[in-house]
Amino acid sequence: MVERPCSCDGGVPPPAWRARDICPRCCRFTWPGLDRQVNKDVWRWLDGPGVALLTGLPVDDRDLAGTGRLALAVAGEFGFVQPQGWDNSLICIVRDEGQVTGMEAGLIASRVARSSKSRERLDLHNDAAPRWVSPEPIDHVLMLAICPAETGGETTLVSARAVWEEILQADPDSARILQSNFPFNRSGDGLPADQPDHTTGPVFKVDGDWFTVRCNRFRIETAARDLNRPLNPKQRDALDLMDSVLGRPELQSKITLQPGECLLLDDRTVVHARTAFRDSPMSLRGRCLIRVWTRRREPRRDRREDATPVS
Ligand SMILES: [Fe+2]
Ligand SMILES: [Zn+2]
Repeated sequence: MVERPCSCDGGVPPPAWRARDICPRCCRFTWPGLDRQVNKDVWRWLDGPGVALLTGLPVDDRDLAGTGRLALAVAGEFGFVQPQGWDNSLICIVRDEGQVTGMEAGLIASRVARSSKSRERLDLHNDAAPRWVSPEPIDHVLMLAICPAETGGETTLVSARAVWEEILQADPDSARILQSNFPFNRSGDGLPADQPDHTTGPVFKVDGDWFTVRCNRFRIETAARDLNRPLNPKQRDALDLMDSVLGRPELQSKITLQPGECLLLDDRTVVHARTAFRDSPMSLRGRCLIRVWTRRREPRRDRREDATPVS
């Protein structure tokens, strides 16, 4: 979402969008004061490209509890808030707490460190891929920015639908394999001992109008190692193809969230990443955002008359 003059016709991009389709002005909606029409427009973006940006939220970096309540109130406009951990926490404060996941070093290392508590690079993924708590996917991720990093911390967004279309065209065999089951490691802070440390499912679930991605190669590789069930060469080739498509610059929309901006993503259809970041040693507060997950109140199909048809 690099700034550029708005020359688009104000239309809502298709679900399988490319970076050039996401107009940095048209995806932006001022909060508060969402009237019915604006609210409808936000839904058109969420149900179409799966991306919308709310701006002007009154965040306060000295009052995380109050800002957390604000994030929950905003999220409540879009669905039921979902727990993010076994302790039923409804908000996650995303900031560097010095944890090292191993992803940055290309390792499959950590069983407990959370990427939300690290300053490392995070590869393209969707939050529900490992199915942390519920076996059901979430629908939306909300990220409310409170403080920026001194450097880095840029967010990349990619349409998983566009990735799917590219894979289908390039190599139908890999597309078929990615619709079969893969293991996803879900271990992390607080996983109860009686819970399995992995879940299983397809990377792409394409069922008529319904599309759900599970993208997290780190978690797939970790599970394959832990289960002592190495991925076969065809699975590996399919994941490599997916990685190479995910890495295409023309598919990647970039944004660095500013304080008071709130990114809304459809977690079933859009994957996100962030670059490594560094906080100023002089500042007491580093990069900080609040994350909330929601599930729709009503099935997506009921909203279709307002939404861009799903291709
Ligand atoms: Fe994430
Ligand atoms: Zn525009």
